[in-house]
Amino acid sequence: MITLPPACNSVWLNNTITRLGVDLSSARFLARSVQNASQEDGSLNDILGYSGKTVVITGAASGMGQAAAQLLVDLGAKVIALDIAPVTVPVASAIEVDMKDPASIDAAVQSVPPKIYALFNCAGVPCPPFSNTDTLLINFVGLRYLTEALLPRITEGGAIASIASTAGMAWKGNVENVKTFLQLDNSFASANAWFEKNPEACADAYGFSKQSIIVYTMMQAKALAQKGIRINCIAPSPTASGFMDKLKGEGQMPDELVDLFLPSNGRYATGAEMGEPLVLLNSKLASFVSGNNIPVDFGFCAEVYMGQRDDLLNISQ
Ligand SMILES: NC(=O)c1ccc[n+]([C@@H]2O[C@H](COP(=O)([O-])OP(=O)(O)OC[C@H]3O[C@@H](n4cnc5c(N)ncnc54)[C@H](O)[C@@H]3O)[C@@H](O)[C@H]2O)c1
Repeated sequence: MITLPPACNSVWLNNTITRLGVDLSSARFLARSVQNASQEDGSLNDILGYSGKTVVITGAASGMGQAAAQLLVDLGAKVIALDIAPVTVPVASAIEVDMKDPASIDAAVQSVPPKIYALFNCAGVPCPPFSNTDTLLINFVGLRYLTEALLPRITEGGAIASIASTAGMAWKGNVENVKTFLQLDNSFASANAWFEKNPEACADAYGFSKQSIIVYTMMQAKALAQKGIRINCIAPSPTASGFMDKLKGEGQMPDELVDLFLPSNGRYATGAEMGEPLVLLNSKLASFVSGNNIPVDFGFCAEVYMGQRDDLLNISQ
């Protein structure tokens, strides 16, 4: 645990987070340390602002979403978890949902309280082994459909945080296709028709689904700012989780290939190292942060931008 300066208060913390810039690994450590400290120092109680707040989180059964859900429970939030798999975190309510099925999302939304503070979009699948269509539907079409169904319930001061990927960081080179796709209404029927007509635009289904999250996040920021609601996403580097186990399968994605995308610290992130920055982003410590896609990658993208490693994902276009 770190020792906080005597004059430590929320202003000091906000300034400190600002100085940390996009190094959210450090910010996550700070947030956790502050939370620990707050248990001994009443003046810092609930510094993240989740106590008593209702939050909705998808993908809470495993990996990053599970870690975020556990932290939110620990912070005193009333957590409503949506997942296709059983949720083991002791949340207030766990609702089964299939994010590739609009009827299932509609049914889940009916069980969500009328007012919520924050939405965490964590559910997602790799391609392979999931098909192109399932990947596009689960990772983005369902995410957008759920987000727009819940938006009217998010109160002023609330926030949305989603998980994109470093695999979506090439969004700039495909932005016109993504924007055309995003101009459609949010129905599954429109999305499916567009995928059928534009197979080349979304041939890399996983990359396109994550590019869509990043561009959607930036495009929504203006309208949501007018309602006092923030929206952000993170772009994780390879993370040890159920996702990674499925992606690697039985050798379908060799270790050597995934290793090319590891940061220079040479390791996979843990689910908590992604879930915790998400919790920070939707917290009141990030109250002026919106419209951002933040790589949480221990500097992987920075190295590419600075020409210190090959741009295998074309992210510096
Ligand atoms: N693991 C990585 O290396 C990595 C890297 C970048 C981005 N991501 C993204 O991070 C997010 C979280 O993945 P993770 O690594 O924690 O993997 P994970 O497999 O551990 O967790 C994914 C969660 O999504 C749920 N889910 C899957 N399909 C669903 C469906 N149809 N309906 C509802 N829920 C469904 C799963 O049950 C699980 O709880 C995903 O969006 C993934 O694309 C992962």
